[in-house]
Amino acid sequence: MLSQYEGMVIELSPKFTGAYRFSVAPMLDCTDRHFRVLMRQISRKAWLYTEMIVAKALQRSNRLNQLLDFDDIEHPISLQIGGDDPEVLAEAARLADAWGYDEINLNIGCPSPRVQSGKFGACMMANPDLVARCVEAMSQASPLSVTVKHRIGIDNLDSDILLTQFVDRLASAGAKRFTIHARKAWLKGLNPKQNRTIPPLEYDRVTKLKRKRPELIIELNGGLNTQEDCLNALLTFDGVMVGRSAYEHPLRWRKIDEVLFQDSPRNLTASKVIHGMIPYAQKHINQGGRLWDICRHVLQIVENTPGAKAWRRDLSLQAQTKNADLKVLEIAARKLEDVGL
Ligand SMILES: Cc1cc2nc3c(=O)[nH]c(=O)nc-3n(C[C@H](O)[C@H](O)[C@H](O)COP(=O)(O)O)c2cc1C
Repeated sequence: MLSQYEGMVIELSPKFTGAYRFSVAPMLDCTDRHFRVLMRQISRKAWLYTEMIVAKALQRSNRLNQLLDFDDIEHPISLQIGGDDPEVLAEAARLADAWGYDEINLNIGCPSPRVQSGKFGACMMANPDLVARCVEAMSQASPLSVTVKHRIGIDNLDSDILLTQFVDRLASAGAKRFTIHARKAWLKGLNPKQNRTIPPLEYDRVTKLKRKRPELIIELNGGLNTQEDCLNALLTFDGVMVGRSAYEHPLRWRKIDEVLFQDSPRNLTASKVIHGMIPYAQKHINQGGRLWDICRHVLQIVENTPGAKAWRRDLSLQAQTKNADLKVLEIAARKLEDVGL
């Protein structure tokens, strides 16, 4: 398959056909449904993920709607789940199906102490058999594809051989796609933030794995900051996942549908994105939600332009006032239109 980008014609990996070719990473406190709807204004095609939801929390919850509801425009979307109990995870997979998710994703990459004390997340890389039983149980419980997000290794368990054995074990248990954050995690000594920056990115390790196992669908994650980074990675991998750069600079990705999915150009601007959010914001306010829940994410769409700081400050102040309504968003959009943004 060929893609054109700024005059360059690029030949992409032969398996480069899936809807998962570009995804926005699951990020706690960031990729809530409001941010996902914002991201959907920017890309109609990006694969979206929920923040990680702990499977046991679903089991005990009497507010499932609050945890699981999403807007129709968010498709395609994966429910990301954390847990280590096959039965509880199977129940989560059933719920994901009942709620209309497109996929369920198991988080084996999170190194946070809270998650480790629950004995799930990245520490489960030390126990591929348990992860395999979880994947099997989830696959049997629902028709949804079960995918896994993980690291290249943890602590001293980070050789190429162990990584290959890990994905082989999970593939035979039914895992349909592997999203690999190309860093190891140090479970003791580094906090989650440090574990996203200090262990070096080792794309070559994931490349070696993809060459060894071309039949597996492998999505690269970690440090992909530009469209060019993604296009380069897609020469080798079946998909790319972008986290912090999507959250911190959403409009940077405004041409991604054009570049990666051959969509027609849309000439997207920050004000158009805000206008696109207005019907959703209206619905949220009608249901008793606060405008700020949405606007805290909208702030990120204006950057690197004169007046950006003042625009963000004004929106932030106005959107946090009691009873802030849609006028706040409309005025914010108009201010941008006035300066051609
Ligand atoms: C604030 C924040 C929260 C995150 N929460 C999750 C999460 O809930 N589940 C998960 O699998 N990864 C989580 N991650 C990791 C990201 O999904 C991603 O793997 C990581 O940021 C590396 O990608 P990037 O360099 O493109 O940001 C989080 C990262 C950040 C910055």
